[in-house]
Amino acid sequence: MPIHPLLVKTKLYKSILCLIKPFIRTYNYMTFLDYVTKNRKHGYINDYYNKNTGYNYRYQLHETILLKLNINQLPVNYLEFGVAEGNMIKFWASKNSNENSLFIGFDSFEGLPESWENKAKEHFNNEGKIPVISDGRVSFVKGWFQDTVHKYLKNMDFSNQSIFHLDADLFSSTLYVLFQIHPFIKKDDILIFDEFSSVENEFLALETFRKCIGKDWGFQFLGAVNNFRQVALQIK
Ligand SMILES: C[S@@+](CC[C@H](N)C(=O)[O-])C[C@H]1O[C@@H](n2cnc3c(N)ncnc32)[C@H](O)[C@@H]1O
Repeated sequence: MPIHPLLVKTKLYKSILCLIKPFIRTYNYMTFLDYVTKNRKHGYINDYYNKNTGYNYRYQLHETILLKLNINQLPVNYLEFGVAEGNMIKFWASKNSNENSLFIGFDSFEGLPESWENKAKEHFNNEGKIPVISDGRVSFVKGWFQDTVHKYLKNMDFSNQSIFHLDADLFSSTLYVLFQIHPFIKKDDILIFDEFSSVENEFLALETFRKCIGKDWGFQFLGAVNNFRQVALQIK
């Protein structure tokens, strides 16, 4: 008897699944460590290995990119996927002085649609409230990415350099966004991941996306902080 119907009939595959799941996690983690090994000495900023990490160090990564790539005065499209209270979009708008820049934040403002690491579903729930930022260049697109991003992006002008800040934490949300922005990504655009070392999520989403797009974009590694928790890449 072939193995296929035997596993189905006995439901033995369920026990095998439980047994092999930790190995799949380990595989992803080792793939991540391989990425770290290749890039740990690269970038404009890289604190690997830093014993004293802190979430606010992420601002150093963003600030370094703004300064080293001279994008604090250029007209840019800054698109942030996962905004919550708007801390990072506010930071970018305060650091880039060009009047033609746009800062667009996408979020349901209802929190995470699934649990992530130790955070429960709906964590970051802003009760649907959009952050108030008194800068006419800043706008928000409220709703689930799956309902909003495609419609919004197809009408956008992508001639300026774009910075795509992926901060939705989850594998599903991040992968969805990567495929949506894919047609619009061009040379010199920047991708920033806020939870890259969440290997089952943002890291795996990027790995999956890279496998699927059918061409090997050269991603230039711009930097990382908090031991690759936050990572920035540029399209070559
Ligand atoms: C970590 S928070 C963003 C933090 C913010 N970028 C900052 O720097 O302060 C993640 C956000 O992603 C949003 N999010 C995740 N998946 C989403 C989806 N599929 N559609 C809309 N919003 C989503 C959540 O609502 C949450 O507010």
